[in-house]
Amino acid sequence: MANDWIKESVVYQIYPLSFNDSNDDGIGDINGIKEKLPYLKNLGIDVIWLSPVYQSPMDDNGYDISNYYEINPMFGTKEDLIDLIKETHNQGMKLIMDLVLNHTSDEHVWFKEAKKSKDNPYRDYYIWSDTPNDITSVFSGSAWTKDILTGQYYFHLFSKKQPDLNWQNSALRHEIYQMINDWLDLGIDGFRLDVIDLIGKDVFNKKLSDGPYLETFLKEMHEACFKGRDILTVGEMPGLSLERAAYLTKEEDHLLSMVFQFDHISLDEQPGKGKWELKPLDLLDLKRVFKRQQEVYEKQGWGSLFWSNHDQPRAVSRYGSVNQRVLSSTMLHTLLFFQRGTPYIYQGEELGMTGYRFKLEEFKDIESINYYKEALALGINEADILKSLHQKSRDNSRTPMQWDDTKNAGFSNGTPWIKVNPNYKEINAANEQQDKNGVYHYIKKLLQLRKEKNVVKEGHFTPLDETSSQIFSYQRKTSNETLVVICNFTNEALTYDLSTYQSYELLLTNQPITNDHCLSPYQAIVYYKENNHGNH
Ligand code: GLC
Ligand code: CA
Repeated sequence: MANDWIKESVVYQIYPLSFNDSNDDGIGDINGIKEKLPYLKNLGIDVIWLSPVYQSPMDDNGYDISNYYEINPMFGTKEDLIDLIKETHNQGMKLIMDLVLNHTSDEHVWFKEAKKSKDNPYRDYYIWSDTPNDITSVFSGSAWTKDILTGQYYFHLFSKKQPDLNWQNSALRHEIYQMINDWLDLGIDGFRLDVIDLIGKDVFNKKLSDGPYLETFLKEMHEACFKGRDILTVGEMPGLSLERAAYLTKEEDHLLSMVFQFDHISLDEQPGKGKWELKPLDLLDLKRVFKRQQEVYEKQGWGSLFWSNHDQPRAVSRYGSVNQRVLSSTMLHTLLFFQRGTPYIYQGEELGMTGYRFKLEEFKDIESINYYKEALALGINEADILKSLHQKSRDNSRTPMQWDDTKNAGFSNGTPWIKVNPNYKEINAANEQQDKNGVYHYIKKLLQLRKEKNVVKEGHFTPLDETSSQIFSYQRKTSNETLVVICNFTNEALTYDLSTYQSYELLLTNQPITNDHCLSPYQAIVYYKENNHGNH
């Protein structure tokens, strides 16, 4: 479980391709990030998580690393990065890097060697078979591709250009630990570990997530790299059960500070049918998932709180309403960020940025493009495919950060690598910073309150109005403080008795309370009081 500074930190995810372009080649870069550090500090950010900037052919936007030690020239140089770390520290923040350890690029020297012959010393760094089984790739098609020269198939759970590493090879593991230590010695404050639930897999018995060796390898990595260092580690673990997540983050071992799980943002998918078959969100499902998370993490471990990232479309467009952008995104963040855990903000969420309806030819993401081809071949009609893509494509959250209302949203003077959302004239950081009633100032205030009130960190979670399918409300309580969060998840005014909270302080609300028997559409209210010990 996390150290105290980690429990109190707010993490901001930067997707470097789309954050800020300093040299006008249309691609965000490290020096662009440096320019914006004061912006992040001002928002109340403690830790920056940087999506991969390592050398990569960019088949999966950097999640296909061809050299763990080098920086992709499109993002800058290693000196630029070292400078960014230094500058981040100077401004009182920390920086964690993304680390992709389940696979490399097929252009990594290990794979280039491994392909040469069956007895190449690097052959066993990857997973080979004469007879591929039926496991499919996350990015469509078989997870096995035949290598022409040696006639064997190699395993890749993601794209063909992302061969999976064979973690059962101990020489490989130790090369990785060395690399991790080199980065930590350089001053990095931790890692976000990409699909790390997969490293213990047994492909031949079809055990992928949380495989038989996961705990052993995590312990070994902890012993070799993390132990004794004051760092933040967050494991992306899509396939892990909640109980296992709590167990792997428990205080005694501190194997990982926390993990990312996705139960709360898979609720608009038809169960068991993958990410493209959609259904409307039932608020009762969301309440059930959060309640369980809060209960489990109160007993053991530590959790993360997030709505969006570079893989997940922006929550306001999924669970909120684009027409009520400011109200619904502030409501969603109130609901989430007063829970126990470490909050994560994905770039642009603090502005209430929305998803963009890409035209077919505008999609860039390999997952979306492969899905389109596969679905078309299966006879699904184009309109339905586009509908799924508009809701769930990863490109939704990858449009450039909207800084101001000048050309390309102030992101770049060149031609951006991906379409800028045309709503930047209205939705941008410059406007939001002016607007005291916008999303930016609300989030900033919320983050401050989180830090001031210990009950947010420690309080016991009790759901309120549990059977309501329109209102999400809960209480957090310690022996000294009580906090109550009430959120109207709908676009309608609802009858609700707020007079119960007369003795509380109104800590935060996203719109004025009209009367004490009504919640306005998407209203979020936070009440607070110090407990009267005489009565408790
Ligand atoms: C993670 C990343 C995603 C990437 C995949 C393969 O889920 O977040 O962007 O495509 O792993 O590395
Ligand atoms: Ca650039």
